[in-house]
Amino acid sequence: MTEQEKNSETLTTIRDFIRLCYSQMMQHKVYLGHGHINPADEARQLVLAALYLPWNTEDMLDAKLLTSEKQRILAFIERRVAKREPLPYIINEAWFMQLPFYVDTRVLIPRSPIAQLIENQFSPFLRPGPVDRVLDLCTGSGCIGIAAAYVFDTALVDIADISTDALAVAKLNIDKHEMQEQVSIIESDLFSAVTEKYDLIVSNPPYVDHDDLVQMPDEYQHEPALALGSGDDGLDICKQILAQANDYLSDEGLLVVEVGNSEVHLMQQYPQVPFIWIDLAEGGNGVFAISAQDLKEYRVLFQQV
Ligand SMILES: C[S@@+](CC[C@H](N)C(=O)[O-])C[C@H]1O[C@@H](n2cnc3c(N)ncnc32)[C@H](O)[C@@H]1O
Repeated sequence: MTEQEKNSETLTTIRDFIRLCYSQMMQHKVYLGHGHINPADEARQLVLAALYLPWNTEDMLDAKLLTSEKQRILAFIERRVAKREPLPYIINEAWFMQLPFYVDTRVLIPRSPIAQLIENQFSPFLRPGPVDRVLDLCTGSGCIGIAAAYVFDTALVDIADISTDALAVAKLNIDKHEMQEQVSIIESDLFSAVTEKYDLIVSNPPYVDHDDLVQMPDEYQHEPALALGSGDDGLDICKQILAQANDYLSDEGLLVVEVGNSEVHLMQQYPQVPFIWIDLAEGGNGVFAISAQDLKEYRVLFQQV
């Protein structure tokens, strides 16, 4: 946008600025992959957030704006369209399993399809019976562990990450959800500082393979590099988890890991392993479950990396 356009008096209402934002997003072909699938919805949320209004505000869209409010909206549009920042980083909020999480560029923006499994308490993959301990490995914002603490409300949940920065955000989210009694933070390179055994270990580790990484739209460049890539085939971290998880699972425990498109590499490299590839009804791919017993049986194979 030119300075002249930015200073134009023609646009006066909230609705005008939602329209402007929508047009700018379309003209400059922003990438939608961090929450919204519809640019009109995203434009609306961005403009309303700039005005500190709820995303579903309906009744004041024709209200006239102050100059300072217009400037704040234009600054948000600039960040989204010119700088390609994903919306959740601009408004410092992302939703996961219908729960709000604070986010900034220290953490991956929550979007894992594992949310669908948490909602169903990992049924039918987790054995029936009480769930006393859960580990969310590679927790980032803490979204998976905190959501799990809601559905397993008597379980103790540990959330672990190697990144001190990410864990600072996870702490904000533990406080936001008042989960201090139930959810604990472990700063750890995978299992190195983990000492307990768990009924359930869930992980959305970095898993983007080299080919996908170089093709990712600019929006993803704002996310922490540590959260995305994991070697040529995207499986460096996943393979370490497979080799070690059995030591940290109870006998009847379950490991659930997201590997996205790197599913193909895992299936090629371990054709004999009975991974359960989970059918994700609401979209997403590349999430598997494997029992503690199967991890034990194939332990030698996994440790050959
Ligand atoms: C794909 S992000 C997932 C974040 C979060 N679980 C989610 O679903 O939004 C992966 C996370 O793994 C962390 N990570 C990378 N390498 C790690 C390691 N060796 N040990 C522990 N965490 C690691 C990164 O810091 C990042 O927060």
